[in-house]
Amino acid sequence: MATASEIAAVGVIGAGQMGSGIAQLAAAAGCAVLLLDADSAALSRAVASISASLRRLAAKGQLSQASCEDSIKRIRCVSTVQDLRDADLVIEAIVENEDVKKKLFVELDKITKPSAILASNTSSISITRLASATKRPSQVIGMHFFNPPPIMKLIEIIRGADTSDEVCAAVKSFSERLGKSVICSQDYPGFIVNRILMPMINEAFWALYTGVATKEDIDTGMKLGTNHPMGPLQLADFIGLDVCLSVLRVLHNGLGDNKYSPCPLLVQYVDAGRLGKKRGLGVYPYAQKSSSVKP
Ligand code: NAI
Repeated sequence: MATASEIAAVGVIGAGQMGSGIAQLAAAAGCAVLLLDADSAALSRAVASISASLRRLAAKGQLSQASCEDSIKRIRCVSTVQDLRDADLVIEAIVENEDVKKKLFVELDKITKPSAILASNTSSISITRLASATKRPSQVIGMHFFNPPPIMKLIEIIRGADTSDEVCAAVKSFSERLGKSVICSQDYPGFIVNRILMPMINEAFWALYTGVATKEDIDTGMKLGTNHPMGPLQLADFIGLDVCLSVLRVLHNGLGDNKYSPCPLLVQYVDAGRLGKKRGLGVYPYAQKSSSVKP
């Protein structure tokens, strides 16, 4: 198995908002990046946004022009899982669907070299269950980046039931190579950050639903009263109300406590297609850039 310094080739699967940021970080850290997406348009968008983001950093003097162009050249778009056969580490950032992710892990297990580490950026799916789809559960791990990955300073590492100490150590050092701070969680619903964050967001919805206060006062209360940079309702809009609802359902099902039961108002917004900033409407309305609208 590759140690952190030996991780030279990184496969990133899913070139959406998370995968493109992860690919950028790995390329800037000197790795050869193989970026795969089922949708070729997503790959083109990702390359354009990574190039623009790296060039912005170079323009601000945070990266030399040469490193910027070298990083862009280190990213190669590929179209099949077989193209990832030489990767030392594969980070999956595809749709948050357990069956789809498991199917991908089965394929990755077959084609990647025996020493490769397989990581998932899942927000809520059990790493132990994803690992059980492979014959190398000791080399499967959660590597939970935050949005947007190039800006957010944290990676939450999730240790599945069988993840080895060596793999945890290698992924921790690799995350530090990407310039991130690392926290480690056991594989329980919501891991650390969402376990604490989602009940707060849910409580903010209950406060709004039961008429405790206006949405603006709930958010201002948490911003100025607890020094959060963003109120919980606005943060939910940025994460995506559908994502928040799905994580709450994982917490509710996995921990079996009614305190995690999603607020009916959150459910209703999702049913109505009010998914947050990405759709131009969640708790708040947002001006839409046509390129950021998801189908
Ligand atoms: P996204 O919808 O922006 O991107 C997902 C990409 O995966 C799309 O380009 C899609 O074409 C591609 N894809 C879907 N199925 C595929 C397959 N079988 N093979 C190859 N490509 C496939 O999603 P986003 O927001 O980047 O999320 C990706 C993952 O990251 C999810 O597991 C999500 O829970 C997790 N995550 C999301 C965060 C967020 O704030 N959006 C934060 C942390 C984790």
